Amino acid sequence: MAATHPSLPHKLTSVKALAESPGLSSIPSLYTFPKHTNDEVFSDTEESIPTLDFSLLTSPDTDERSKAVQELGKACQDWGFFMVTNHGVRESLMKAIIEASREFFELTEEEKRGFEGKHVLDPIRYGTSFNASVDKILCWRDYLKIFQHPQFHSPNKPPVFREIAAEYSKKVRQVAKEILRGVSESLGLEDNYIDKTLNLEHGLQVLAANLYPPCPQPELAMGFPAHSDHGLLTLLIQNQIGGLQVQHHGKWVSIDPIPNSFLANIGDHIEILSNGKYKSVLHRAVVNNRDVRISIAMPHGPALDAVVSPAPKLVEGERNPPAYRAMKYKDYLELQQSSMLNGKSCLESVRKYM
Ligand code: OGA
Ligand code: NI
Repeated sequence: MAATHPSLPHKLTSVKALAESPGLSSIPSLYTFPKHTNDEVFSDTEESIPTLDFSLLTSPDTDERSKAVQELGKACQDWGFFMVTNHGVRESLMKAIIEASREFFELTEEEKRGFEGKHVLDPIRYGTSFNASVDKILCWRDYLKIFQHPQFHSPNKPPVFREIAAEYSKKVRQVAKEILRGVSESLGLEDNYIDKTLNLEHGLQVLAANLYPPCPQPELAMGFPAHSDHGLLTLLIQNQIGGLQVQHHGKWVSIDPIPNSFLANIGDHIEILSNGKYKSVLHRAVVNNRDVRISIAMPHGPALDAVVSPAPKLVEGERNPPAYRAMKYKDYLELQQSSMLNGKSCLESVRKYM
């Protein structure tokens, strides 16, 4: 593996440092992605992604709630991606976590390197690209990934980070838990099925801050190539700069950021648990040549030692046999995070072929 980048210096520079090098007018060839001919992109005004009104999902009115659960199920089945509004997380807190992340990326290169993880399961991991030690083409992205639950971790710089991250993560985890309760119900399972079976009390929650600096040749580079997320449910916010694209019916659709909402998507482990009824969806982040884009993705997963398999109730004998092998979440995570990013190839590896 070590010989993948013979021309790179021992320490990879961040994309931020690269983007800020004086007079940079083209990107190094290592950042050039092959063009896909079928990559026509549509805007979400033509194909609009569903919206979940969170206040209806938590409504004491049972009719209102069951309607919201039904709509949630439809959104999971049709898109696997949806906007969440009226979620109760303060807008000022959402802005604060984005600004605290920006401040982290503004630390010196040396300071940031102090947070480089050695292993994919290290609770704090700063880095560039996706997995720079195996990526053949580098992504136009720097990142900071921090485990927030079951144990809370935080870098000690910038000083504001810890308190903001702790509050943000706690609030977002509540939203995720409620949505997962609705997902359980929409699948015809008990509302606490996911919570109990996958031990969400000790579930993994990761704060993944992504930095996409302006790129002089945005059409040649890629911020985050097509992938699906591990875990159950990811909730994402961004600094009002677009770049996220979602695959829907074989087409890429650009998602415009709506202020004060979350973008939610189903992860691979809901696909496994639902025996393929709700599919995790391919998405990617493209870059631009004007603005710094920051996004905060928060995947919520099972407990690391939970074994995930299709829910028995959703498996019906010969008509609908289990389509995925049972696998420990931790093993899946290690496999996905230490491999080269390649669409849904990790999920394919637990799929059973009949
Ligand atoms: C992710 C992700 C997209 C974005 O972090 O998993 O898909 O818009 N990010 O940054
Ligand atoms: Ni993602």
